[in-house]
Amino acid sequence: MPSLNDIRSTFLGYFEKQGHQVVPSSPLVPRNDPTLMFTNSGMVQFKNLFTGVETRDYKRATTAQKCVRAGGKHNDLDNVGYTARHHTFFEMMGNFSFGDYFKTEAIPFAWELVTRELDIPAERLLVTIYHTDDEAAEIWKKVGVPDDRIIRIDTTDNFWMMGPTGPCGPCTEIFFDHGDKYWGGPPGSPEEDGDRFVEIWNLVFMQNEQFEDGSMRALDMQSIDTGMGIERVAALLQGTNDNYSTDLIRALIEASADATSSDPDGPGKTHHRVIADHLRSTSFLIADGVMPSNDGRGYVLRRIMRRAMRHAHMLGAKDPVMHRLVPALVRQMGQAYPELVRAQPLIEETLKLEETRFKQTLDRGLKLLDDELVRLGEGAKLPGQAAFKLYDTYGFPLDLTQDALRERGREVDTGGFDEAMAEQKAKARAAWSGSGEAADLAIWFEIADAKGATDFLGYDTETAEGQMLTLVKDGAEVDALEAGESGWVVMNQTPFYGESGGQVGDSGWMRRLEDEHDLAEVTDTQKMGGGKVFAHQVTIKQGRFAKGEAVALEVDHARRGKIRANHSATHLLHEALRRA
Ligand code: SER
Repeated sequence: MPSLNDIRSTFLGYFEKQGHQVVPSSPLVPRNDPTLMFTNSGMVQFKNLFTGVETRDYKRATTAQKCVRAGGKHNDLDNVGYTARHHTFFEMMGNFSFGDYFKTEAIPFAWELVTRELDIPAERLLVTIYHTDDEAAEIWKKVGVPDDRIIRIDTTDNFWMMGPTGPCGPCTEIFFDHGDKYWGGPPGSPEEDGDRFVEIWNLVFMQNEQFEDGSMRALDMQSIDTGMGIERVAALLQGTNDNYSTDLIRALIEASADATSSDPDGPGKTHHRVIADHLRSTSFLIADGVMPSNDGRGYVLRRIMRRAMRHAHMLGAKDPVMHRLVPALVRQMGQAYPELVRAQPLIEETLKLEETRFKQTLDRGLKLLDDELVRLGEGAKLPGQAAFKLYDTYGFPLDLTQDALRERGREVDTGGFDEAMAEQKAKARAAWSGSGEAADLAIWFEIADAKGATDFLGYDTETAEGQMLTLVKDGAEVDALEAGESGWVVMNQTPFYGESGGQVGDSGWMRRLEDEHDLAEVTDTQKMGGGKVFAHQVTIKQGRFAKGEAVALEVDHARRGKIRANHSATHLLHEALRRA
Protein backbone atom coordinates (compact mmCIF):
# COMPACT_ATOMS: atom_id res chain seq x y z
CA MET A 1 0.00 0.00 0.00
CA PRO A 2 1.67 3.28 -1.02
CA SER A 3 2.08 5.94 1.66
CA LEU A 4 1.04 9.52 0.94
CA ASN A 5 4.72 10.42 0.66
CA ASP A 6 5.18 7.63 -1.93
CA ILE A 7 2.26 8.96 -3.98
CA ARG A 8 3.72 12.45 -3.98
CA SER A 9 7.04 11.09 -5.26
CA THR A 10 5.32 8.97 -7.91
CA PHE A 11 3.40 11.97 -9.20
CA LEU A 12 6.36 14.35 -9.34
CA GLY A 13 8.66 11.61 -10.71
CA TYR A 14 6.23 10.74 -13.49
CA PHE A 15 5.97 14.30 -14.73
CA GLU A 16 9.69 14.88 -14.32
CA LYS A 17 10.19 11.95 -16.71
CA GLN A 18 7.82 13.72 -19.11
CA GLY A 19 10.10 16.78 -19.22
CA HIS A 20 8.49 18.82 -16.44
CA GLN A 21 10.50 20.99 -14.05
CA VAL A 22 9.79 20.04 -10.42
CA VAL A 23 9.03 23.45 -8.89
CA PRO A 24 8.81 23.87 -5.08
CA SER A 25 5.48 24.78 -3.53
CA SER A 26 5.00 28.54 -3.30
CA PRO A 27 4.36 30.10 0.15
CA LEU A 28 0.84 30.05 1.61
CA VAL A 29 0.81 33.85 1.53
CA PRO A 30 0.66 34.67 -2.18
CA ARG A 31 3.12 37.29 -3.36
CA ASN A 32 1.68 37.67 -6.83
CA ASP A 33 -1.99 38.00 -6.09
CA PRO A 34 -3.39 41.28 -4.82
CA THR A 35 -6.50 39.94 -3.10
CA LEU A 36 -6.11 36.25 -2.32
CA MET A 37 -5.81 35.55 1.41
CA PHE A 38 -4.04 32.20 1.14
CA THR A 39 -2.72 30.08 -1.72
CA ASN A 40 -5.64 27.77 -2.44
CA SER A 41 -4.55 25.87 -5.54
CA GLY A 42 -1.48 24.86 -7.50
CA MET A 43 -1.90 27.42 -10.27
CA VAL A 44 -1.68 30.50 -8.02
CA GLN A 45 2.11 30.83 -8.39
CA PHE A 46 1.79 30.44 -12.17
CA LYS A 47 -1.16 32.79 -12.73
CA ASN A 48 0.79 35.33 -14.76
CA LEU A 49 2.41 32.66 -16.95
CA PHE A 50 -0.97 31.67 -18.39
CA THR A 51 -1.81 35.21 -19.38
CA GLY A 52 1.67 35.70 -20.88
CA VAL A 53 2.55 38.59 -18.54
CA GLU A 54 5.45 36.56 -17.13
CA THR A 55 7.76 33.96 -18.68
CA ARG A 56 10.19 31.53 -17.07
CA ASP A 57 12.89 29.28 -18.42
CA TYR A 58 10.57 26.25 -18.41
CA LYS A 59 7.30 25.53 -20.20
CA ARG A 60 6.33 22.44 -18.25
CA ALA A 61 6.17 22.30 -14.48
CA THR A 62 4.98 19.94 -11.77
CA THR A 63 4.35 20.74 -8.12
CA ALA A 64 3.07 19.56 -4.78
CA GLN A 65 1.43 22.77 -3.58
CA LYS A 66 0.47 23.42 0.03
CA CYS A 67 -2.98 25.01 0.19
CA VAL A 68 -5.08 26.58 2.93
CA ARG A 69 -8.81 27.17 2.69
CA ALA A 70 -9.91 28.88 5.84
CA GLY A 71 -11.07 32.35 4.98
CA GLY A 72 -12.66 34.22 2.12
CA LYS A 73 -14.44 32.43 -0.71
CA HIS A 74 -13.22 28.88 -0.11
CA ASN A 75 -13.82 28.45 3.61
CA ASP A 76 -14.00 24.89 4.88
CA LEU A 77 -13.29 25.59 8.55
CA ASP A 78 -16.76 24.84 9.89
CA ASN A 79 -16.88 21.32 8.50
CA VAL A 80 -13.38 20.21 9.39
CA GLY A 81 -13.27 17.19 11.67
CA TYR A 82 -16.90 16.34 11.12
CA THR A 83 -16.64 15.05 7.52
CA ALA A 84 -14.38 12.68 5.56
CA ARG A 85 -12.87 15.20 3.20
CA HIS A 86 -12.86 18.75 4.55
CA HIS A 87 -9.53 20.27 5.50
CA THR A 88 -8.13 23.68 6.28
CA PHE A 89 -4.79 22.44 4.90
CA PHE A 90 -4.28 20.08 1.99
CA GLU A 91 -1.78 19.35 -0.77
CA MET A 92 -2.65 19.77 -4.42
CA MET A 93 -0.55 17.87 -6.94
CA GLY A 94 -0.37 19.43 -10.38
CA ASN A 95 1.21 19.42 -13.82
CA PHE A 96 1.31 22.57 -15.88
CA SER A 97 1.98 23.51 -19.48
CA PHE A 98 2.54 27.14 -20.38
CA GLY A 99 1.71 27.31 -24.07
CA ASP A 100 3.44 23.96 -24.60
CA TYR A 101 1.23 20.84 -24.72
CA PHE A 102 -2.57 20.91 -24.54
CA LYS A 103 -5.49 18.45 -24.37
CA THR A 104 -4.05 15.73 -26.60
CA GLU A 105 -1.11 15.23 -24.24
CA ALA A 106 -2.64 16.24 -20.91
CA ILE A 107 -5.39 13.60 -20.96
CA PRO A 108 -3.13 10.62 -21.83
CA PHE A 109 -0.59 11.79 -19.19
CA ALA A 110 -3.32 11.82 -16.53
CA TRP A 111 -4.72 8.46 -17.60
CA GLU A 112 -1.34 6.76 -17.66
CA LEU A 113 -0.40 8.12 -14.23
CA VAL A 114 -3.68 7.12 -12.66
CA THR A 115 -4.13 3.66 -14.20
CA ARG A 116 -0.51 2.50 -14.64
CA GLU A 117 1.75 4.33 -12.19
CA LEU A 118 -0.79 4.48 -9.37
CA ASP A 119 -2.53 1.31 -10.51
CA ILE A 120 -6.08 2.51 -9.93
CA PRO A 121 -8.47 0.10 -11.67
CA ALA A 122 -9.85 1.79 -14.80
CA GLU A 123 -13.28 0.28 -14.26
CA ARG A 124 -13.64 2.29 -11.04
CA LEU A 125 -13.06 5.57 -12.86
CA LEU A 126 -15.30 7.90 -14.80
CA VAL A 127 -14.74 11.33 -16.26
CA THR A 128 -16.69 14.52 -16.82
CA ILE A 129 -16.18 17.04 -19.61
CA TYR A 130 -17.65 20.44 -20.43
CA HIS A 131 -20.77 19.74 -22.51
CA THR A 132 -19.48 21.35 -25.70
CA ASP A 133 -15.97 19.89 -25.50
CA ASP A 134 -16.17 17.17 -28.21
CA GLU A 135 -12.42 17.21 -28.58
CA ALA A 136 -11.88 16.15 -24.96
CA ALA A 137 -14.51 13.40 -25.39
CA GLU A 138 -12.64 12.02 -28.40
CA ILE A 139 -9.32 11.98 -26.57
CA TRP A 140 -10.85 10.17 -23.58
CA LYS A 141 -12.32 7.56 -25.93
CA LYS A 142 -8.95 7.14 -27.57
CA VAL A 143 -7.19 6.35 -24.28
CA GLY A 144 -9.83 3.71 -23.67
CA VAL A 145 -12.59 5.27 -21.57
CA PRO A 146 -15.95 3.88 -22.74
CA ASP A 147 -18.58 6.35 -23.94
CA ASP A 148 -20.93 5.67 -21.05
CA ARG A 149 -18.23 6.72 -18.59
CA ILE A 150 -17.76 10.14 -20.16
CA ILE A 151 -20.31 12.50 -18.66
CA ARG A 152 -21.09 15.87 -20.22
CA ILE A 153 -21.73 18.64 -17.70
CA ASP A 154 -23.23 21.94 -18.79
CA THR A 155 -22.62 23.92 -15.62
CA THR A 156 -19.69 25.97 -14.30
CA ASP A 157 -18.57 22.78 -12.49
CA ASN A 158 -16.73 22.01 -15.72
CA PHE A 159 -15.67 25.53 -16.62
CA TRP A 160 -12.96 26.53 -14.19
CA MET A 161 -12.31 30.14 -13.19
CA MET A 162 -9.86 31.29 -10.57
CA GLY A 163 -12.13 34.16 -9.53
CA PRO A 164 -14.14 36.99 -11.05
CA THR A 165 -11.12 37.80 -13.23
CA GLY A 166 -8.10 35.90 -14.56
CA PRO A 167 -7.24 32.89 -16.72
CA CYS A 168 -9.98 30.28 -17.12
CA GLY A 169 -11.27 27.53 -19.39
CA PRO A 170 -13.25 24.32 -19.71
CA CYS A 171 -12.12 21.41 -17.59
CA THR A 172 -12.36 17.66 -17.37
CA GLU A 173 -12.49 15.82 -14.07
CA ILE A 174 -11.64 12.26 -13.07
CA PHE A 175 -13.90 10.58 -10.49
CA PHE A 176 -13.36 7.41 -8.47
CA ASP A 177 -16.27 5.13 -7.56
CA HIS A 178 -15.92 3.95 -3.95
CA GLY A 179 -18.64 1.36 -4.52
CA ASP A 180 -22.26 0.85 -3.57
CA LYS A 181 -21.59 0.53 0.14
CA TYR A 182 -21.58 4.34 0.05
CA TRP A 183 -24.58 6.46 -0.82
CA GLY A 184 -24.29 8.77 -3.81
CA GLY A 185 -24.69 9.06 -7.58
CA PRO A 186 -22.40 9.93 -10.50
CA PRO A 187 -21.56 13.57 -11.25
CA GLY A 188 -24.45 15.46 -12.78
CA SER A 189 -27.04 13.25 -11.02
CA PRO A 190 -29.21 14.51 -8.16
CA GLU A 191 -27.23 12.33 -5.72
CA GLU A 192 -23.81 13.62 -6.83
CA ASP A 193 -23.02 15.10 -3.40
CA GLY A 194 -22.95 11.67 -1.78
CA ASP A 195 -19.75 9.93 -0.71
CA ARG A 196 -19.71 7.27 -3.42
CA PHE A 197 -18.24 9.15 -6.40
CA VAL A 198 -15.30 11.33 -5.45
CA GLU A 199 -13.49 13.76 -7.72
CA ILE A 200 -9.77 13.08 -7.61
CA TRP A 201 -8.27 15.19 -10.40
CA ASN A 202 -9.25 18.30 -12.30
CA LEU A 203 -7.58 19.12 -15.63
CA VAL A 204 -8.17 22.69 -16.76
CA PHE A 205 -7.71 23.71 -20.39
CA MET A 206 -6.63 27.31 -19.92
CA GLN A 207 -7.65 29.15 -23.04
CA ASN A 208 -9.53 32.28 -21.97
CA GLU A 209 -9.11 35.30 -19.76
CA GLN A 210 -12.04 36.77 -17.87
CA PHE A 211 -12.23 40.53 -17.20
CA GLU A 212 -13.95 42.61 -14.58
CA ASP A 213 -16.66 43.86 -16.97
CA GLY A 214 -17.73 40.24 -17.63
CA SER A 215 -16.09 40.00 -21.04
CA MET A 216 -13.79 37.13 -21.98
CA ARG A 217 -10.98 36.94 -24.52
CA ALA A 218 -9.19 33.94 -26.02
CA LEU A 219 -5.64 33.72 -24.70
CA ASP A 220 -2.83 33.80 -27.24
CA MET A 221 -1.55 30.46 -26.00
CA GLN A 222 -3.28 27.34 -24.78
CA SER A 223 -2.11 26.00 -21.44
CA ILE A 224 -2.75 23.25 -18.93
CA ASP A 225 -3.40 23.56 -15.18
CA THR A 226 -4.26 20.46 -13.19
CA GLY A 227 -5.05 19.81 -9.55
CA MET A 228 -5.17 16.45 -7.81
CA GLY A 229 -6.11 16.20 -4.13
CA ILE A 230 -3.42 13.91 -2.80
CA GLU A 231 -5.28 13.06 0.42
CA ARG A 232 -8.19 11.67 -1.62
CA VAL A 233 -5.92 9.59 -3.81
CA ALA A 234 -4.07 8.28 -0.75
CA ALA A 235 -7.44 7.34 0.76
CA LEU A 236 -8.57 5.29 -2.19
CA LEU A 237 -5.19 3.60 -2.64
CA GLN A 238 -5.20 2.74 1.05
CA GLY A 239 -8.67 1.21 0.80
CA THR A 240 -10.69 3.88 2.60
CA ASN A 241 -12.87 6.81 1.61
CA ASP A 242 -11.91 8.81 4.68
CA ASN A 243 -8.92 11.14 4.24
CA TYR A 244 -8.40 11.08 8.00
CA SER A 245 -7.70 7.34 7.89
CA THR A 246 -4.73 7.72 5.53
CA ASP A 247 -1.25 7.08 6.89
CA LEU A 248 -0.05 10.68 7.15
CA ILE A 249 -3.06 12.17 8.92
CA ARG A 250 -3.51 9.00 10.98
CA ALA A 251 0.02 9.48 12.37
CA LEU A 252 -1.00 12.96 13.56
CA ILE A 253 -4.22 11.64 15.09
CA GLU A 254 -2.19 9.04 16.97
CA ALA A 255 0.23 11.72 18.17
CA SER A 256 -2.76 13.68 19.45
CA ALA A 257 -4.13 10.58 21.20
CA ASP A 258 -0.73 9.90 22.76
CA ALA A 259 -0.26 13.44 23.99
CA THR A 260 -3.70 13.47 25.60
CA SER A 261 -3.60 9.82 26.78
CA SER A 262 -6.84 9.08 25.02
CA ASP A 263 -8.20 6.62 22.49
CA PRO A 264 -7.78 7.81 18.87
CA ASP A 265 -11.04 6.06 17.91
CA GLY A 266 -12.96 6.59 21.13
CA PRO A 267 -15.58 9.22 21.93
CA GLY A 268 -12.97 11.95 21.38
CA LYS A 269 -12.43 10.90 17.76
CA THR A 270 -13.67 14.17 16.25
CA HIS A 271 -11.41 16.17 18.54
CA HIS A 272 -8.36 14.28 17.27
CA ARG A 273 -9.42 14.88 13.67
CA VAL A 274 -9.82 18.61 14.22
CA ILE A 275 -6.46 18.75 16.01
CA ALA A 276 -4.66 16.82 13.24
CA ASP A 277 -6.03 19.07 10.53
CA HIS A 278 -5.45 22.31 12.41
CA LEU A 279 -1.91 21.26 13.37
CA ARG A 280 -1.07 21.15 9.68
CA SER A 281 -2.54 24.53 8.74
CA THR A 282 -1.21 26.38 11.78
CA SER A 283 2.30 24.94 11.50
CA PHE A 284 2.59 25.63 7.78
CA LEU A 285 1.20 29.16 8.17
CA ILE A 286 3.71 29.97 10.91
CA ALA A 287 6.50 28.50 8.76
CA ASP A 288 5.44 30.93 6.04
CA GLY A 289 5.67 33.94 8.31
CA VAL A 290 2.09 34.37 9.55
CA MET A 291 1.87 35.09 13.29
CA PRO A 292 -1.28 35.02 15.42
CA SER A 293 -2.84 38.47 15.70
CA ASN A 294 -6.20 40.18 15.86
CA ASP A 295 -6.51 41.06 12.19
CA GLY A 296 -6.26 39.70 8.69
CA ARG A 297 -4.30 36.53 8.06
CA GLY A 298 -2.98 36.51 11.61
CA TYR A 299 -6.52 36.36 12.94
CA VAL A 300 -7.44 33.46 10.70
CA LEU A 301 -4.42 31.66 12.13
CA ARG A 302 -5.46 32.53 15.69
CA ARG A 303 -8.98 31.27 15.05
CA ILE A 304 -7.68 27.93 13.78
CA MET A 305 -5.20 27.59 16.66
CA ARG A 306 -7.74 28.38 19.33
CA ARG A 307 -10.27 26.06 17.80
CA ALA A 308 -7.76 23.21 17.99
CA MET A 309 -6.87 24.20 21.53
CA ARG A 310 -10.48 23.96 22.66
CA HIS A 311 -10.68 20.47 21.21
CA ALA A 312 -7.50 19.50 23.11
CA HIS A 313 -9.08 20.95 26.23
CA MET A 314 -12.17 18.79 25.66
CA LEU A 315 -9.95 15.74 25.58
CA GLY A 316 -9.06 16.66 29.15
CA ALA A 317 -5.61 18.12 28.43
CA LYS A 318 -4.44 20.21 31.36
CA ASP A 319 -1.23 21.52 29.77
CA PRO A 320 -0.60 22.91 26.29
CA VAL A 321 -0.72 20.09 23.74
CA MET A 322 -0.35 21.44 20.22
CA HIS A 323 3.37 22.21 20.36
CA ARG A 324 4.07 18.61 21.43
CA LEU A 325 2.60 17.34 18.15
CA VAL A 326 4.93 19.33 15.90
CA PRO A 327 7.70 16.67 15.85
CA ALA A 328 5.19 14.12 14.48
CA LEU A 329 4.24 16.55 11.72
CA VAL A 330 7.87 17.28 10.90
CA ARG A 331 8.56 13.52 10.73
CA GLN A 332 5.75 13.12 8.22
CA MET A 333 6.17 16.20 6.07
CA GLY A 334 9.58 17.73 6.82
CA GLN A 335 11.33 16.00 3.97
CA ALA A 336 8.91 17.25 1.31
CA TYR A 337 8.66 20.70 2.90
CA PRO A 338 12.05 21.67 4.42
CA GLU A 339 10.66 25.04 5.55
CA LEU A 340 8.83 23.08 8.24
CA VAL A 341 12.11 21.75 9.62
CA ARG A 342 13.68 25.21 9.55
CA ALA A 343 10.73 26.78 11.35
CA GLN A 344 10.18 23.96 13.87
CA PRO A 345 11.43 25.91 16.94
CA LEU A 346 9.36 28.97 15.95
CA ILE A 347 6.23 26.85 15.39
CA GLU A 348 6.62 25.11 18.74
CA GLU A 349 7.24 28.33 20.65
CA THR A 350 4.35 30.15 18.98
CA LEU A 351 1.89 27.33 19.63
CA LYS A 352 3.01 26.95 23.22
CA LEU A 353 2.75 30.64 23.99
CA GLU A 354 -0.67 30.98 22.37
CA GLU A 355 -2.03 27.92 24.15
CA THR A 356 -0.62 28.97 27.51
CA ARG A 357 -2.27 32.37 27.15
CA PHE A 358 -5.55 31.06 25.88
CA LYS A 359 -5.80 28.47 28.64
CA GLN A 360 -5.99 31.29 31.16
CA THR A 361 -9.38 32.33 29.87
CA LEU A 362 -10.67 29.20 28.13
CA ASP A 363 -12.08 27.53 31.27
CA ARG A 364 -13.82 30.64 32.47
CA GLY A 365 -15.22 31.36 29.01
CA LEU A 366 -16.62 27.85 28.63
CA LYS A 367 -18.18 28.09 32.09
CA LEU A 368 -19.82 31.38 31.12
CA LEU A 369 -21.12 29.75 27.98
CA ASP A 370 -22.60 26.82 29.90
CA ASP A 371 -24.22 29.08 32.51
CA GLU A 372 -25.71 31.19 29.77
CA LEU A 373 -27.16 28.15 28.01
CA VAL A 374 -28.73 26.85 31.23
CA ARG A 375 -30.21 30.29 31.87
CA LEU A 376 -31.63 30.50 28.34
CA GLY A 377 -33.25 27.07 28.43
CA GLU A 378 -33.78 24.62 25.56
CA GLY A 379 -33.27 25.66 21.96
CA ALA A 380 -32.83 29.43 22.31
CA LYS A 381 -30.07 31.11 20.28
CA LEU A 382 -27.11 32.45 22.23
CA PRO A 383 -27.58 36.24 22.29
CA GLY A 384 -25.04 38.26 20.32
CA GLN A 385 -24.03 40.14 23.46
CA ALA A 386 -22.95 36.92 25.17
CA ALA A 387 -20.95 35.79 22.12
CA PHE A 388 -19.37 39.23 22.02
CA LYS A 389 -18.41 39.04 25.68
CA LEU A 390 -16.77 35.67 25.01
CA TYR A 391 -14.87 37.28 22.14
CA ASP A 392 -13.91 40.47 23.89
CA THR A 393 -13.17 39.27 27.42
CA TYR A 394 -12.24 35.62 26.97
CA GLY A 395 -10.62 35.67 23.52
CA PHE A 396 -13.15 33.33 21.89
CA PRO A 397 -13.30 33.92 18.12
CA LEU A 398 -16.93 33.76 16.96
CA ASP A 399 -16.44 30.49 15.10
CA LEU A 400 -15.02 28.87 18.22
CA THR A 401 -18.21 29.74 20.08
CA GLN A 402 -20.22 28.43 17.14
CA ASP A 403 -18.22 25.22 17.13
CA ALA A 404 -18.81 24.77 20.88
CA LEU A 405 -22.54 25.32 20.39
CA ARG A 406 -22.72 22.94 17.46
CA GLU A 407 -22.20 19.94 19.75
CA ARG A 408 -25.16 21.13 21.77
CA GLY A 409 -27.31 21.71 18.67
CA ARG A 410 -27.43 25.44 19.34
CA GLU A 411 -26.63 28.62 17.39
CA VAL A 412 -25.44 32.18 17.94
CA ASP A 413 -27.41 35.27 17.04
CA THR A 414 -24.70 36.50 14.66
CA GLY A 415 -26.60 39.71 13.80
CA GLY A 416 -26.55 40.59 17.50
CA PHE A 417 -22.83 39.80 17.65
CA ASP A 418 -22.12 42.21 14.76
CA GLU A 419 -24.18 44.91 16.43
CA ALA A 420 -22.32 44.51 19.71
CA MET A 421 -19.02 44.72 17.84
CA ALA A 422 -20.07 47.89 15.97
CA GLU A 423 -21.28 49.46 19.22
CA GLN A 424 -17.94 48.84 20.91
CA LYS A 425 -16.04 50.39 18.02
CA ALA A 426 -18.27 53.45 18.05
CA LYS A 427 -17.67 53.87 21.80
CA ALA A 428 -13.92 53.51 21.39
CA ARG A 429 -13.96 56.18 18.70
CA ALA A 430 -16.04 58.56 20.77
CA ALA A 431 -13.74 58.12 23.77
CA TRP A 432 -10.61 58.74 21.73
CA SER A 433 -9.19 62.22 21.74
CA GLY A 434 -6.59 63.05 19.15
CA SER A 435 -3.08 64.22 19.94
CA GLY A 436 -2.97 66.50 16.93
CA GLU A 437 -0.50 64.24 15.08
CA ALA A 438 -1.34 63.41 11.46
CA ALA A 439 -1.43 59.70 12.29
CA ASP A 440 -4.12 60.37 14.89
CA LEU A 441 -6.53 62.15 12.57
CA ALA A 442 -9.99 60.66 12.90
CA ILE A 443 -10.02 59.68 9.25
CA TRP A 444 -7.30 57.06 9.78
CA PHE A 445 -9.31 55.44 12.56
CA GLU A 446 -12.36 55.39 10.32
CA ILE A 447 -10.31 53.76 7.59
CA ALA A 448 -8.82 51.27 10.05
CA ASP A 449 -12.33 50.35 11.23
CA ALA A 450 -13.77 50.04 7.76
CA LYS A 451 -10.86 48.29 6.03
CA GLY A 452 -9.12 46.39 8.83
CA ALA A 453 -5.39 46.22 9.43
CA THR A 454 -2.86 46.14 6.60
CA ASP A 455 -1.07 42.80 6.25
CA PHE A 456 2.68 43.43 6.45
CA LEU A 457 4.67 41.15 4.12
CA GLY A 458 8.00 42.87 4.45
CA TYR A 459 9.78 40.42 6.74
CA ASP A 460 10.70 38.23 3.82
CA THR A 461 9.99 40.17 0.64
CA GLU A 462 10.52 43.61 -0.80
CA THR A 463 8.09 43.16 -3.69
CA ALA A 464 4.44 42.08 -3.68
CA GLU A 465 1.12 42.81 -5.28
CA GLY A 466 -1.71 44.39 -3.37
CA GLN A 467 -5.04 46.11 -3.71
CA MET A 468 -5.57 49.83 -3.11
CA LEU A 469 -8.34 49.91 -0.51
CA THR A 470 -8.62 53.67 -0.38
CA LEU A 471 -6.76 56.87 -1.18
CA VAL A 472 -6.50 60.04 0.89
CA LYS A 473 -5.81 63.59 -0.23
CA ASP A 474 -5.78 66.68 1.99
CA GLY A 475 -7.28 64.76 4.92
CA ALA A 476 -10.23 63.26 3.01
CA GLU A 477 -10.83 59.99 1.15
CA VAL A 478 -10.81 60.28 -2.65
CA ASP A 479 -11.59 57.76 -5.40
CA ALA A 480 -8.38 58.32 -7.34
CA LEU A 481 -5.17 60.31 -7.63
CA GLU A 482 -4.14 61.63 -11.05
CA ALA A 483 -0.69 62.23 -12.56
CA GLY A 484 1.01 65.09 -10.75
CA GLU A 485 -1.07 64.72 -7.57
CA SER A 486 0.23 63.66 -4.17
CA GLY A 487 -1.60 61.87 -1.38
CA TRP A 488 -1.75 58.63 0.58
CA VAL A 489 -2.63 55.11 -0.51
CA VAL A 490 -3.86 52.39 1.86
CA MET A 491 -3.21 48.83 0.70
CA ASN A 492 -4.66 45.52 1.90
CA GLN A 493 -1.08 44.21 2.12
CA THR A 494 2.37 45.66 1.66
CA PRO A 495 6.07 44.90 1.86
CA PHE A 496 6.73 48.56 2.83
CA TYR A 497 7.91 49.07 6.40
CA GLY A 498 5.89 51.75 8.20
CA GLU A 499 7.79 54.17 10.42
CA SER A 500 7.94 52.87 13.98
CA GLY A 501 10.36 52.03 16.76
CA GLY A 502 12.67 54.80 15.59
CA GLN A 503 13.11 53.28 12.10
CA VAL A 504 11.89 55.50 9.28
CA GLY A 505 9.35 54.25 6.74
CA ASP A 506 10.24 52.68 3.40
CA SER A 507 10.10 54.43 0.05
CA GLY A 508 9.91 52.90 -3.43
CA TRP A 509 7.45 52.49 -6.28
CA MET A 510 3.96 51.34 -7.19
CA ARG A 511 2.91 50.25 -10.66
CA ARG A 512 -0.65 49.60 -11.84
CA LEU A 513 -1.07 45.96 -12.87
CA GLU A 514 -3.36 47.00 -15.72
CA ASP A 515 -0.60 49.10 -17.24
CA GLU A 516 2.88 48.95 -15.77
CA HIS A 517 3.82 52.30 -17.31
CA ASP A 518 1.54 53.91 -14.76
CA LEU A 519 3.90 54.72 -11.95
CA ALA A 520 3.66 56.28 -8.51
CA GLU A 521 6.64 57.14 -6.36
CA VAL A 522 6.29 56.18 -2.71
CA THR A 523 8.13 58.78 -0.65
CA ASP A 524 7.27 57.53 2.84
CA THR A 525 5.26 54.93 4.72
CA GLN A 526 3.50 55.67 8.01
CA LYS A 527 1.45 53.56 10.38
CA MET A 528 -1.83 55.33 10.98
CA GLY A 529 -5.02 54.80 12.97
CA GLY A 530 -3.41 53.30 16.05
CA GLY A 531 -0.74 51.60 13.97
CA LYS A 532 -3.17 49.34 12.12
CA VAL A 533 -3.12 50.95 8.70
CA PHE A 534 0.00 51.35 6.55
CA ALA A 535 -0.36 54.58 4.58
CA HIS A 536 1.94 55.07 1.60
CA GLN A 537 2.70 58.67 0.77
CA VAL A 538 2.76 58.88 -3.01
CA THR A 539 3.26 61.21 -5.91
CA ILE A 540 1.68 59.97 -9.14
CA LYS A 541 4.21 60.13 -11.97
CA GLN A 542 2.02 58.71 -14.71
CA GLY A 543 -1.57 57.42 -15.03
CA ARG A 544 -4.52 57.42 -12.67
CA PHE A 545 -4.46 55.35 -9.47
CA ALA A 546 -7.98 54.43 -8.37
CA LYS A 547 -9.54 52.72 -5.36
CA GLY A 548 -10.02 48.95 -5.74
CA GLU A 549 -7.29 48.51 -8.34
CA ALA A 550 -4.30 46.22 -8.01
CA VAL A 551 -0.71 47.45 -8.01
CA ALA A 552 2.75 45.92 -7.86
CA LEU A 553 4.75 47.32 -4.94
CA GLU A 554 8.51 47.56 -4.84
CA VAL A 555 10.56 48.79 -1.91
CA ASP A 556 13.65 50.89 -2.70
CA HIS A 557 16.06 48.12 -1.82
CA ALA A 558 19.21 50.21 -1.59
CA ARG A 559 17.58 52.73 0.72
CA ARG A 560 16.06 50.02 2.95
CA GLY A 561 19.53 48.50 3.34
CA LYS A 562 21.02 51.82 4.44
CA ILE A 563 18.14 52.50 6.83
CA ARG A 564 18.65 49.14 8.45
CA ALA A 565 22.35 49.73 8.82
CA ASN A 566 21.73 53.19 10.32
CA HIS A 567 19.10 51.82 12.62
CA SER A 568 21.46 49.13 13.91
CA ALA A 569 24.23 51.72 14.26
CA THR A 570 21.90 53.85 16.40
CA HIS A 571 21.28 50.90 18.71
CA LEU A 572 25.04 50.30 18.98
CA LEU A 573 25.67 53.97 19.70
CA HIS A 574 23.04 53.99 22.44
CA GLU A 575 24.53 50.89 23.98
CA ALA A 576 28.02 52.44 23.83
CA LEU A 577 26.71 55.61 25.51
CA ARG A 578 25.01 53.56 28.21
CA ARG A 579 28.24 51.71 28.92
CA ALA A 580 30.44 54.82 28.86
N1 SER B 1 -7.00 25.23 -10.76
C1 SER B 1 -7.75 24.02 -10.73
C2 SER B 1 -8.34 23.73 -9.37
O1 SER B 1 -8.11 24.45 -8.46
C3 SER B 1 -6.85 22.87 -11.13
O2 SER B 1 -5.62 22.99 -10.50
O3 SER B 1 -9.04 22.78 -9.22
